[in-house]
Amino acid sequence: MFKDGLLADEVIFVTGGGSGLGKSMSLRFAELGARLVICGRREGILESAAQEIEEATGSEVLALPCDVRDLGQVEAVVQAGIDRFGHISGLVNNAAGNFLAQTETLSSNAFRTVVDIVLTGSFHATLACGRHMIEKGRGTVLSITTTYAWTGSAFVVPSACAKAGVLAMTRSLAVEWARYGIRLNAIAPGPFPTEGAFSRLMPPGIEEAAIRKIPLRRFGEHQELANLATYLMSPQSAYVNGEVVTIDGGEWLNGGEFNHFTSLPDEQIDGMFEQLRAATRKPSK
Ligand code: HXC
Repeated sequence: MFKDGLLADEVIFVTGGGSGLGKSMSLRFAELGARLVICGRREGILESAAQEIEEATGSEVLALPCDVRDLGQVEAVVQAGIDRFGHISGLVNNAAGNFLAQTETLSSNAFRTVVDIVLTGSFHATLACGRHMIEKGRGTVLSITTTYAWTGSAFVVPSACAKAGVLAMTRSLAVEWARYGIRLNAIAPGPFPTEGAFSRLMPPGIEEAAIRKIPLRRFGEHQELANLATYLMSPQSAYVNGEVVTIDGGEWLNGGEFNHFTSLPDEQIDGMFEQLRAATRKPSK
């Protein structure tokens, strides 16, 4: 789908690039020639991911521990990337935090923790890279948001608020920074299995029901998301700006009034509809 060396001119900073979807995207970018800066809170995991990606692709990876909630730490990583590679041309705001909870039980700190990682963290990385990209006159920023950024969702209020903010930041800066040659886009994934997300968001026994909600009847594959991210980070998407691309097998559209009937067997659907039709049929004259 992509030609070799598509990202050879790119240096891409991926927050949370040592695990989960961040690692899958990083690997794909490196396969296509990008040099990488990856950060995360767990140094060991980060270093082994960097080594794995370098060995698999031959691309250089700079891995540095960093908590995106701290602007100083993010700025230090961005500066280290620039010192090592000469510039940073792309940023993927991927680092996230989330958990399921009944909102009335949350502490202020619980809300703040998720918002700080997701929204403030994305702002920090965008700010630190953006200042450098403005100087260079080019840059691409991709943020991983979610479909409930616009629908909202029960039991993940801090994450929904934060992801909605990331989407608003994306669209605002897509206009404000276009004049500096910087594009900002977002991806809204549905469920893609990762240890980080599924251990917090997929209660045991719920997987089958979760799959039934998805019109395509399966979870996403990492490669599918990584390819979409590659397109949006590459010069091939040069005219796409301020967009959010959903990749969820149709899941979010399936929340409508009658869509849940699709999880019933065909005969049952036919039977239900026929019953209603019979009950409302006009009497023949
Ligand atoms: C209620 C909770 C909680 C829970 C933590 N807290 N977990 N409250 N229910 N399950 C509260 C704590 O009690 C504390 O408040 C505050 O949150 C901070 O918790 P810490 O554990 O001290 O924070 P920290 O160690 O920084 O961990 C951050 C985290 C954690 C977000 C809580 O889950 C994490 O590190 N996550 C990173 C990876 C991750 O979540 N990945 C999934 C992203 S998936 P008090 O008041 O007690 O101090 C995603 C995709 C969504 O976003 C789309 C799906 C379709």
